Amino acid sequence: MTTSTDFDWDYLIQRDRVHRDVYTDPQLFSIEMTKLYGGLWTYLCHESEIPEPGSFRRAKLGLREVIVSRGKEGDIHALFNRCAHRAAAVCMHPSGSASRFVCPYHGWTYGLNGDLLAVPYADGYGEDFDKSTRHLPRVPRVKSFHGFIFGTLNEAMPELEDYLGLAGDVLKEFINRAPSGKLALNAGAYRSSYTGNWKLAWDNAADMYHVFFAHRSLVDITRARNPGGDTGATYAARPDESPIYSYYLGQGHTYLHHRPGMGPSIFERARPAPGMEIGATALRETMGAEAAADLLERVPGQGMNLNIFPNLMIIASQIQVVEPVSVDRTQLTWYATTLSDAPAQANVLRMRIAEDFPNFGEVDDLEMFERCWQGLQVPEAPWVDYSRGNHIPLADITQSNGAQKAPGTHEHALRGYLDAYKEYMQTDMTLTAA
Ligand code: FES
Ligand code: FE
Repeated sequence: MTTSTDFDWDYLIQRDRVHRDVYTDPQLFSIEMTKLYGGLWTYLCHESEIPEPGSFRRAKLGLREVIVSRGKEGDIHALFNRCAHRAAAVCMHPSGSASRFVCPYHGWTYGLNGDLLAVPYADGYGEDFDKSTRHLPRVPRVKSFHGFIFGTLNEAMPELEDYLGLAGDVLKEFINRAPSGKLALNAGAYRSSYTGNWKLAWDNAADMYHVFFAHRSLVDITRARNPGGDTGATYAARPDESPIYSYYLGQGHTYLHHRPGMGPSIFERARPAPGMEIGATALRETMGAEAAADLLERVPGQGMNLNIFPNLMIIASQIQVVEPVSVDRTQLTWYATTLSDAPAQANVLRMRIAEDFPNFGEVDDLEMFERCWQGLQVPEAPWVDYSRGNHIPLADITQSNGAQKAPGTHEHALRGYLDAYKEYMQTDMTLTAA
């Protein structure tokens, strides 16, 4: 069996270039599915998706199927969707409410916390048959960060808050954009997939360089909406100098901060959406101008892409989850978020604005990922370039809190996450189910 020590990491990942094997090698992918997905804190779902005792939702921990459930006391569990008898998946519903999980193969029955409650024809087993050892296997460490539920199989991982670090601060900013800090994932999802490795999406996540080319039509729409005088990144004659920044936040987490380049109002900056003016007018009439102005600024979300390694991305008002399927196949799911303590009209507007990027922008990125994948099928030309901005000393872009900040068009955030990736892939880890 190939292990991570069989790879020459310093050759594969260099400061300004990466070897194609990092994307295309199936054995390396298989190591990623343990050391990263499962070894690190991995996002599972949001608490609002399992609102009540008995609520459950299926999720992925790399290639492993997990059921995240809420027990009778409101307790949260992450159970492997794997019967303790002969391993059949016990639940095929994406989400719902249940009092128990009954395996369809031979009828073993489990509680919401995974305990084995009953087996049919129990007298066919000997006296030493111990139900307490035959529960649904559990993700041993499950933790919620202000509603965002993560799990790890690695007892040696630091606490979730420490792993998130600076990214946790930015995630809190995103959450606190909601009135009362309450968000919900209850408005559906936009699902897409592409032929290519999951890291192609990660490379793209803090990359402002591609926006002026791959998303040219979106840039043109934004310019039409905000003519003249704007200093935002989509206007700048020299994008490297525009007030939009990419950050490397440590632990593999990256951040693209658009807000400084978005002018005084995010709402006014949003691209036109159906019903936008009517909705805004209705809110001003019912709430008053001042309260409506405050709420409307919260409606489009935050001017940000926050990327929490290895699978959670926050984009404006949406949550995108990266799900590797195989070395050459990736699922991307965008979950709309709603503001729990806001009038319905505000959330309708939020949805209309949120639909914009998946409809017009995501398709551009998906095509670029597939084109990269196509290009990576040339073994004789193995190197991928990440050198943009690499001539600037790290000390010059390192902030007092340790974050590295540079123009959004530079590639230091990619180099940062790849350095973390390289380290994780070489770390000895013991993963266990509880
Ligand atoms: Fe689940 Fe047999 S595999 S009861
Ligand atoms: Fe993009």
